Amino acid sequence: MAAAMRAMADQAEAMRAWIVSDSSNRPARPAWAKMPFEAQRPTDTTVLVEEFFEKAHAYHEAHRLVGQQPTAQHFDALVARCIACHQSHCPGPLKRINRLMIGS
Ligand code: HEC
Repeated sequence: MAAAMRAMADQAEAMRAWIVSDSSNRPARPAWAKMPFEAQRPTDTTVLVEEFFEKAHAYHEAHRLVGQQPTAQHFDALVARCIACHQSHCPGPLKRINRLMIGS
């Protein structure tokens, strides 16, 4: 699961940069692929409780919205989903994740 998370973080950082960039002079929208991370084995398998899967579901909904309408508000709602799961299940990367917030 860690490899999927690294890809999600890279993808989110690229999308953040795209959203905050000058819209008149933008490169192509970065890739935004769904990452079914919850199907992969985590380092600590005790995280796989029902609440984790509910949080994963909410994350995928927020991810889909960003794909449909990549606004700063939708993006920050997605980052809030990353944070909600990490606060309960994996606090280590929170510093990197907090930096993704655009502040819309
Ligand atoms: C439903 C829970 C959940 C959501 C949502 C979630 N994560 Fe994670 N994340 C985890 C867990 C659990 C791990 C530990 C994975 C492992 O060690 O196998 C992890 C690991 C990571 C890591 C560390 C990877 C490594 O190299 O060890 C990063 C960075 C990360 N997540 C970023 C993010 C970002 C950015 C988002 C949102 C775009 C996000 N996560 C959404 C649960 C979640």
